Amino acid sequence: MSSPAVAFARQNQPRFLNELKDLLRIPSVSTLPEHKADCRHAAEVLAAELKRIGMENVRIIETEGHPLVYADWLHAGGKPGAPADRSSSAGWKPTALVYGHYDVQPPDPLDEWLSPPFEPTERNGNLYARGAVDDKGQVVAQVKALESLLAANGSLPLNVRVLLEGEEEVGGEGIAHFVASKPPELKADFALVSDTELFAPGLPTLCVGLRGMIYTELEVRGARTDLHSGMYGGAAPNPFFALAQILAGLKDENGHILIPGFYDDIIPPSAEELAAWRSLPFDEEEYRKTEVGAKQLVGEAGYSVLERTWARPTLDVHGIPGGFTGAGAKTVIPAKAVAKVSMRLVPGMTPARAFALYKSFVEEIAPAGVDVEVRLIHSGDPCLIPVDNPYIRAATRALHEVWGKDTVFIRSGGSIPIVGDFARHLGLPSVMMGFGLPDDNLHAPNEKFSIRNFELGIESLIRFLEEAGG
Ligand code: BES
Ligand code: MN
Ligand code: MN
Repeated sequence: MSSPAVAFARQNQPRFLNELKDLLRIPSVSTLPEHKADCRHAAEVLAAELKRIGMENVRIIETEGHPLVYADWLHAGGKPGAPADRSSSAGWKPTALVYGHYDVQPPDPLDEWLSPPFEPTERNGNLYARGAVDDKGQVVAQVKALESLLAANGSLPLNVRVLLEGEEEVGGEGIAHFVASKPPELKADFALVSDTELFAPGLPTLCVGLRGMIYTELEVRGARTDLHSGMYGGAAPNPFFALAQILAGLKDENGHILIPGFYDDIIPPSAEELAAWRSLPFDEEEYRKTEVGAKQLVGEAGYSVLERTWARPTLDVHGIPGGFTGAGAKTVIPAKAVAKVSMRLVPGMTPARAFALYKSFVEEIAPAGVDVEVRLIHSGDPCLIPVDNPYIRAATRALHEVWGKDTVFIRSGGSIPIVGDFARHLGLPSVMMGFGLPDDNLHAPNEKFSIRNFELGIESLIRFLEEAGG
């Protein structure tokens, strides 16, 4: 490969890594109100950086929540979406919509981090920090790919629009509204999303499917106020018990979700896709031990781990706030209890129907003596990406060059709500090219990004944009 941009990237890797560290020092935790200013700061830093490298029309776009960052460079030629047959229009270049998110998950539990979450630290070829891989490291990789192309050539090989959000980890409502309004700034031919992972170290991977989700709160109220558990125990309903009964009624002991109709609309993966998954390098016992670290895996009988995590819906409890949780003992019957419950959805399912079925089932199985309220916090659709297009082909060519191997196509059990909207509202196929590793500790203590993957990620993105530009 003789790409001046790749050569530029190789010469500038130490600086690139330092600039990533600067961004990682900003605690842009989107779900915590006390970090609102940090989220804006991260957006401003990225906007300034996009301007510095030569992107144009750089703007902070306000939303009801954290702001979006937009930039473009549209001098490669052609109009987005113009010729279906590229050969019919000499000089036509596609337009890429480059997407990532600058917000991060909360860093807790803090005492499990070996180095502080917002003090990026190198150990064993990895960079440790909250957001290292999800998603600041990958956003910076995208920006550095653009910088390398602009610095080495004075131009980009195709038209580029950049759209970054700061609410991905909380459902992405702001960007969803913006995308649904189909603004002219988002006219493009494909989206480039870097927020996923390689199936295994050194194995080039494109993600072609994501699960959707509904995130809910289930509140159970008993007595009007907290009560002395000796004076009232035996007569007053305990909302924690009621909550436990409801939760226990949602799934059977085999992991089968008991909500009537929940599985009805699922579109199962094709026989070819299932066969391809079976040939991926995956050792269930190794996964149990090193990734999950539990004595046994759970889930629906008759489905492999990859099917259970990629192509089957799930229901999980994330936390049960309420009552007395301090040190020592307090004898109280709490007035209310809450559970944070989410469901991952797979192709065929819709958030609206899943929520309606869940809500009416919870109301049906709630025990006597308590009131239940089911609230939807956020939701996102599942997505499946078409692979028969020139952008996916360009991606596999670029990845083969950089990694020396054929690309594997996988799905992921995680969710990136906006990817479905890119297809639905803008008609864009997405190329989900990400460089995380399965053991990167996303959302957990000691999140990391392999520095080698950061570097090869930048090279892959450069070569992909060059190939996509034809
Ligand atoms: N980048 C992840 C999603 C992901 C993880 C994709 C691993 C592929 C492999 C994303 O930032 C994420 O965590 N999304 C949330 C979205 C939710 C809060 C709507 C998720 O999946 O929990
Ligand atoms: Mn992410
Ligand atoms: Mn995430």
